[in-house]
Amino acid sequence: MSTSETVIAVSGLGKVYQSGFQALKSVDLQIRRGEILALLGPNGAGKTTLISIICGIVNPSSGKVTVDGYDITRDYRRARSLIGLVPQELTNNLFDTVWATVTLSRGLFGKPPNRAYLESLLRDLSLWDKRNEKMMALSGGMKRRVLIAKALAHEPQILFLDEPTAGVDVELRRDMWAMVRTLRDKGVTIILTTHYIEEAEEMADRIGVINRGELLLVEDKAVLMRQLGKRQLIIQLQQPLTALPAAVAGKTVELTDNGSTLVYTFDAQCEQTGVGDLLRALAREGVEFKDVNSSQSSLEEIFVGLVHDSNQQRSRA
Ligand SMILES: Nc1ncnc2c1ncn2[C@@H]1O[C@H](COP(=O)(O)OP(=O)(O)OP(=O)(O)O)[C@@H](O)[C@H]1O
Ligand SMILES: [Mg+2]
Repeated sequence: MSTSETVIAVSGLGKVYQSGFQALKSVDLQIRRGEILALLGPNGAGKTTLISIICGIVNPSSGKVTVDGYDITRDYRRARSLIGLVPQELTNNLFDTVWATVTLSRGLFGKPPNRAYLESLLRDLSLWDKRNEKMMALSGGMKRRVLIAKALAHEPQILFLDEPTAGVDVELRRDMWAMVRTLRDKGVTIILTTHYIEEAEEMADRIGVINRGELLLVEDKAVLMRQLGKRQLIIQLQQPLTALPAAVAGKTVELTDNGSTLVYTFDAQCEQTGVGDLLRALAREGVEFKDVNSSQSSLEEIFVGLVHDSNQQRSRA
């Protein structure tokens, strides 16, 4: 579905808040039409700031953003009308009903009324029964669903979801994933932030990692997992060892678990993984195995590693 056509172009984007805090440092990012891009980063990394600038809620201090060719400052209304935003914080008027909330939002973007569309939207989000309730009479998860309905009320081409599944139950999370996929299949470009890495792993075509206002990388999920993923061979021994056998000295092998497990870390991309050599060398020394397993690092481990390395580089600089 995704093509390489850029729909949002962010260049040299910086943000210094009035407090003097620099939340973004010259971010460059091209978002492709029709993709699902997941932005990952620790609390305070700058994810919401980046999204808020693209959506015209926060002013940039430097740099430029275009949405489908429209400059977010010069052509604010055109750019904004292409975007739906599900904000991280609840911002609805609690005295409005669900129905009023979505119809108002559609009207704000100058779209003609479309009862049938809004009805199907509310039905998809299991909110139809609640359409005449005031917002304050809804549960937290329901309020979050209304935010989604509100963001989609004007049929945007691009949807930003800022931590859409924080605090929602498992069922709603699954429903939301399904909804996001349906939207993507209709050609909507989706940018989401999440602290649930399995969500990014499950949903995203590409992953961006932000730390302390810097975009550390943006990469296809599959490439990222192949390039940065490490594989490990975990060998449980019949008899614990007190030291590494001489035959494996110099290899990336560690003795753990009080000497009862050998862990060999290798690059899964390499033609020669060295697994065969290692096992033969151990057998020659008479080391016997109880069990052999292999594991592949998860996106979570890759992410934690990236953020950790970038923090270390900063503290050294
Ligand atoms: N209005 C503001 N004034 C001053 N500083 C701000 C403002 N909004 C955000 N910041 C600071 O900018 C940094 C980035 O905040 P931001 O909300 O973009 O982070 P985030 O990546 O979305 O974090 P989280 O995962 O917690 O949502 C933080 O250090 C935050 O304190
Ligand atoms: Mg945020």
